[in-house]
Amino acid sequence: MSTFFAILFYVATLILVGGVVYKVYDYARTPAPLNIPTTPAPTTASGVAFRMFREVAFFESLFKANLWIWALGWLFHVGLALVLLRHLRYFTEPVNFIIAFIQPFGMYAGFAMAAGLAGLWARRFLVERIRYISTPSDHLMLALLLGIAGTGLLMKFVMHTDIVAVKTFFLGLMVFEINPLPTHPGLYLHLGMVVLLMIIFPISKLLHAPGVFFSPTRNQVDNPREKRHLAPWAAELETKNWMELPPRSLRSLPPEGAQASLGTARRET
Ligand code: HEM
Repeated sequence: MSTFFAILFYVATLILVGGVVYKVYDYARTPAPLNIPTTPAPTTASGVAFRMFREVAFFESLFKANLWIWALGWLFHVGLALVLLRHLRYFTEPVNFIIAFIQPFGMYAGFAMAAGLAGLWARRFLVERIRYISTPSDHLMLALLLGIAGTGLLMKFVMHTDIVAVKTFFLGLMVFEINPLPTHPGLYLHLGMVVLLMIIFPISKLLHAPGVFFSPTRNQVDNPREKRHLAPWAAELETKNWMELPPRSLRSLPPEGAQASLGTARRET
């Protein structure tokens, strides 16, 4: 079982890291041709950084939109952050004093996380409008996270596992050494679901975590009057005389929108 889990964790880590890096690269190179910040929006870059911080730390726009979902969502995310920080003790030796300090808070954060998740999941059944738009993957993500939290809390409070051996196993994996993992059904379930979460993360809605930083309505400066917004590919178009280029090079340029506006420009000239 130890070797099985070791292989699973190596594969899952490769998929998680490779997948997220690729997706972030994809987001970063996606053109944002229009200036569309949600107003009122900051008029300076530092203002945008502050807005983004408020969005990520406090879910500001959700707070303004729906207080119930905000409370449940924030409870879950803050709980998750503390739980993950608390888990760093399994991967570091010596344990940083900040990680040691938050241990007791992290424990109760497990309950906060589970309560937030349960509320968010109940909403998908109880609110008719939300039930109608919920897909199996929405339910799967919530079930998986709740399953991980549930088995974790079970290990913490009901059926204990040998956490020193768990730590030895994970510290070993980092230097390509396989140490025995405790034989414990709760731990197997907990880790199995963590592996599944790691594998599906790069193709799931959970990508909103890195994705929020690439949202044009949040990361753009509201300065269309002071500064003409010009996407890099559009700037390139402006330096060329399109009437003299063969049609093929037109086709290789950014699709649809750009092509359409080019068509108009050609007809006008
Ligand atoms: C390889 C990664 C992970 C390992 C080795 C691991 C291991 C463990 C262990 C051994 C416990 C029991 C703690 C104790 O008895 O004191 C636990 C608890 C818990 N785990 Fe994990 N876990 C991992 C990932 C995760 C993830 C990704 C989540 C959340 C999505 C999570 C959520 C929880 C929760 C909520 C608890 C109960 C509260 C606590 O003790 O912090 N775990 N985990």
